[in-house]
Amino acid sequence: MLDRDNFLRAENTRHQFHPMIHPIISGAHPPQIIMQGDGCYVTDIDGNRLVDGLGGLWNVNVGHNRPEVKRAIIEQMDRISYYSSFAGTATAPSIELSAKICEMAAEEEITKVMFCANGSDAVETALKLSRQYWQLVGQPTRTKFLSLKQGYHGVHFGGLSVNGAPYYRNAYEPLLGGCFQIDSPWTYRNPYSEDPEVLADAVITQIERTILAQGPQTVAAFIAEPVQGAGGVIVPPGSFWPKLRAILDKYEVLLISDEVVTGFGRSGAMFGARGWGVKPDMMCLAKGISSGYVPLGATALNKRVADAWYQGFSEQGIIMHGYTATGHPVGCAAALACLEIVEDEDLPGNAARMGARLLEGLKPLEQSCSIVGEVRGKGLMVGLDFVSDKAARTPMDPGAGIVERIAAYAREEGAIVRPAGSVIILSPPLVIEAPEIDIIVNALVRACARYDAEQ
Ligand SMILES: Cc1ncc(COP(=O)(O)O)c(C=O)c1O
Repeated sequence: MLDRDNFLRAENTRHQFHPMIHPIISGAHPPQIIMQGDGCYVTDIDGNRLVDGLGGLWNVNVGHNRPEVKRAIIEQMDRISYYSSFAGTATAPSIELSAKICEMAAEEEITKVMFCANGSDAVETALKLSRQYWQLVGQPTRTKFLSLKQGYHGVHFGGLSVNGAPYYRNAYEPLLGGCFQIDSPWTYRNPYSEDPEVLADAVITQIERTILAQGPQTVAAFIAEPVQGAGGVIVPPGSFWPKLRAILDKYEVLLISDEVVTGFGRSGAMFGARGWGVKPDMMCLAKGISSGYVPLGATALNKRVADAWYQGFSEQGIIMHGYTATGHPVGCAAALACLEIVEDEDLPGNAARMGARLLEGLKPLEQSCSIVGEVRGKGLMVGLDFVSDKAARTPMDPGAGIVERIAAYAREEGAIVRPAGSVIILSPPLVIEAPEIDIIVNALVRACARYDAEQ
């Protein structure tokens, strides 16, 4: 065992490119090796047992090592581990899961689901099917996509093209043409107003102007996250999503809700858009669908969109899209077990309650810590925005390494938290309870106090 541990430490970054980091930096600061998990805790290679403030990567919503999920996976593997959804075959779990998702999203009139392996796939599927939808309903010029700055929609070429942060795109351009980003309704940092209503209206006006400038007959869809996650946990004003739905309806533009993070409870409602009282035309789902036990994603279509394929047969309507992993039986079996837990244990409700406790516990840092500009969040998505100048709200330069230092201190205090640019992101499992929330809060409060004491 020790031999293996020594091998892992020595070889940690030798043969593997890690995402979202320069390989030289990850070589110099090797990633922490996580060996085990149970519930809201993980144990690293050095034997440290830590509260998982990230829930893996916003995804282990039911917690680690759940016997029900493992049992479902093994039972499915005992039957068959894989068979294709192409070419006239299907497997049982994908049939059951598609029915389950349509039942859970009946309020949104979701009637069709297409499976894939992850969130980036789910976004790609939504973008492609939205273009196909417009072809099927006789408006083939509707091909363009709108999205929000600070938005994150995965890493495939389509998703990158609608991504609202240039640093994800720069190395991989040129991307898809016809994609336009609009200012995010971000109360803490925007050139318009701190008044949420004025801000929401300013952004909606910008959306309308962009649609009109492009020509409504050329715009296929608007894609957005109900709460922007990777962009820094940006919670829009409460009126923004209803106003967004209204303006898109005015010009018949489809609304794609990227629910990869918010889907299945994280923002305190079963779906993020539902939390804003809005029914999207499509939803991108992944992460919490299978809590990371097996990779899985899905794109859900409402009746309005799905019905376009049922106007009669046409070559145009053939869905020339799909992945080897589409409908993966083990992924779907894991998801069925996870979604049962989400419902039985009311994880959206717990996310709302525990999220409020987390936010309340961390909010005082805005006053007590010299570099915390804002603590914000919704449900179990919380962000601490670090600044180099509080009055000017200047984001802390990620190159300064200060946010990483705070995260490292928090880890020494018993919680894994995620530094992402100038923000620390928290997204613990949705099964978390008060004692573990308090461990995260205390770890960050002590980490910030330690930083200030060192100045
Ligand atoms: C909103 C959103 N969409 C899409 C993705 C991409 O998902 P994946 O990393 O599973 O490809 C993510 C990942 O974090 C996400 O947060």
